[in-house]
Amino acid sequence: MIEKDKIWPWWPLFPLYPYGSKKTIINELIPEQIWSLEQIQGIYYVAVPVRMTVIKVKDGLMILNPLPPTIELINHLNEIIFKHGPIKAIILPTASGLEHKIGLPPLARIFNQAEIWLCPGQWSFPLNLPLDFIGIPSKRTKILFEDGLPFDDYCKWISLGPINLGLGRFQEISCFHKPTNSLHVTDAIVGIESNPPKIFDYDPSPLLFHSRERGDDLLVDSLENRKKGWARLVLFASYLRPSKLQIPSLNHVIKYSFKEGLRNRKSHFGIYPFLWDKDWEESKAVIIGDNSPKIQIAPVLQRLIFPRSKEILSSWLNVVKNFKGLKYLISAHYSSPLEFSEIDCQKIIDNINSDEWGSLNEDNKFLYNLYERLYKIGIIPENVDI
Ligand SMILES: [Fe+2]
Repeated sequence: MIEKDKIWPWWPLFPLYPYGSKKTIINELIPEQIWSLEQIQGIYYVAVPVRMTVIKVKDGLMILNPLPPTIELINHLNEIIFKHGPIKAIILPTASGLEHKIGLPPLARIFNQAEIWLCPGQWSFPLNLPLDFIGIPSKRTKILFEDGLPFDDYCKWISLGPINLGLGRFQEISCFHKPTNSLHVTDAIVGIESNPPKIFDYDPSPLLFHSRERGDDLLVDSLENRKKGWARLVLFASYLRPSKLQIPSLNHVIKYSFKEGLRNRKSHFGIYPFLWDKDWEESKAVIIGDNSPKIQIAPVLQRLIFPRSKEILSSWLNVVKNFKGLKYLISAHYSSPLEFSEIDCQKIIDNINSDEWGSLNEDNKFLYNLYERLYKIGIIPENVDI
């Protein structure tokens, strides 16, 4: 039974897990200043939390990285609006991340007095459609930098990219919010830790599903299994195909599918097309922090976007590093807020300039080969400039 306040009727437009019912949780990240609203989104087997951030601005609020507005999400927003004023602006700071775009048109319709600000170079695939076609009201929409910048008396806006991807561009606009000394990014930097995000408390089944070894294993809820499933989900989301994961034969998959107790949607009917190597946990340490979040450039971007554009990434980080008072980082995925100072930023710059950055561990091979193939057939162009 779907709960009414979690209904998301537009899910067939972008069929991302959990489809027509989305739980939203709210968290105050910086007291009276910054809030996080999270939902889970994903494709079939890989579901990860996505964050919308609400920031207090003069006489109201600003939204970064909009999410699909279920009744539950709007109720949470209304609690903040009641205390801190109306939504003044909704900002989509990324040109490429689809999971951050799908909530914008309906959210813009609900908050019809808010200004809409977009990262330059929005593109849709396979057709590059005009804004109104994809449901973004062009009359009250502005493009960041081209039409000015919102709240620029106390927000510093800087661009990472654009980087030419061939089909479109990678670009994200980061915001340094001076009153809280927090840097806001979408996908570029993440902090990943071993404890699963709180939103999985509502329904841990995506974690428990991945904690198993075979399709006929039942979903057993324990903290250990939640952590195990979370680590595997992170490896999927970071490398698309982790090196310690084998794809078993169809016969193997069918043999263990549709067993009693697993013939339901949550268990994907026992269909489990994965076989993890015994030593799969060795891959965890590279990207997942044990007691605190491990801060890093998002692994997928490292391999698919930045191999050709290390300099663009370094110069962006050099600007970030010099934001006076830099203290926190808040991103649209994984743990937030992260403690993030000039020193942490320098560590990433040093890592980019070290041999480690270019070296290829086994887990990166799938992404590396994908990149090479796209480059060879000309989808990824040689020139990074737009
Ligand atoms: Fe994202």
